[in-house]
Amino acid sequence: MTKKIVTIETAAALLKSGEVVAMPTETVYGLAGWINSDEGLRKIFSTKERPFFDPLIVHVSDIVKARTLSSDWTDIHEILGLALWPGPLTLITKKITSLNPLITSGLDSVGIRVPRHPVAIELLKYIEGGLAAPSANKFGKTSPTTSDHVYQEFGEEVAILEGGQSDVGIESTVVGVSGKKVEIYRPGQITASKISEILKQAGLKDVEVTYAQSPVAPGQLKHHYMPKIPLVIVSERFDQKDLPLIEQRLGSSFSRPVLWKQDQDPLIASRELYEKMRSFDEEGYDLILSVKEAHQSSEDWMGIWNRLGKAKSLEL
Ligand code: TXA
Ligand code: MG
Repeated sequence: MTKKIVTIETAAALLKSGEVVAMPTETVYGLAGWINSDEGLRKIFSTKERPFFDPLIVHVSDIVKARTLSSDWTDIHEILGLALWPGPLTLITKKITSLNPLITSGLDSVGIRVPRHPVAIELLKYIEGGLAAPSANKFGKTSPTTSDHVYQEFGEEVAILEGGQSDVGIESTVVGVSGKKVEIYRPGQITASKISEILKQAGLKDVEVTYAQSPVAPGQLKHHYMPKIPLVIVSERFDQKDLPLIEQRLGSSFSRPVLWKQDQDPLIASRELYEKMRSFDEEGYDLILSVKEAHQSSEDWMGIWNRLGKAKSLEL
């Protein structure tokens, strides 16, 4: 068995015929389907074993195409799109009525982004409209940041466009806009402070930018990104003698725990995050002890600890 790597031309032809193709982006690899193909969209859900209540993000080659999918493109959308695209930002906007409801899970809004990866941008130029693409993993599992990860997830079933290792490593920041309020539904590399600063510089001084508390978006479930072995979040004070407490709480014993500290640079830590999460069980460990350092409560680390928080079995 080998990876089914295809060219951009083949990928475009497959997508137009109603197939799904794994596409590299700067955040994680996506499982793409053409937004104008009902068959392709259905195949995304069946391949991922994803429930229909979880809406998909539409990827387009530029802001001009983004505007055509929206029926209420505001100044805030325009300013953030111009400043941060191509890049790891998804903007939620009121959708045009003709969009297939499979994309939006029946909501009247749609999430749109322009990815920064050259292969994705090139592919999108061949595609009228855009590509719906969730992360290319089975529902609830760890997102892929290399073509090998995609292959481990789906085997030869899914054609893959090669694009090397994803640079950002965690999924895009998802942003909702309502009047003068901007709400971050999913934290990522682009922070609320960054968004706030851009809006202020553009002259919009009274916009409030906040992080959403509980899951506003369907799909933002508590358990997600789960590795194959349990992950426990511990503080810097963790001591091996606390292991029995974890064993008792999880109801099993562990013989090969690994202590996992993040790189001090959040850009590197996020790039390595999912790769490391996958590698621990391949290396024969049976428990991940993920150390959260005090300084990592800052905003730059929010995306990383949001994902680890959803991947965890327990937090001490
Ligand atoms: O970085 C990314 O965003 C990656 C790459 C492939 O682009 N994609 C990704 O897609 O993470 P996915 O399906 O794993 O996550 C999409 C999430 C949904 O679970 C939901 O929380 C939010 O985006 N979303 C999409 N459309 C929405 C909408 N109309 N309203 C609110 N949230 C929405
Ligand atoms: Mg996902």
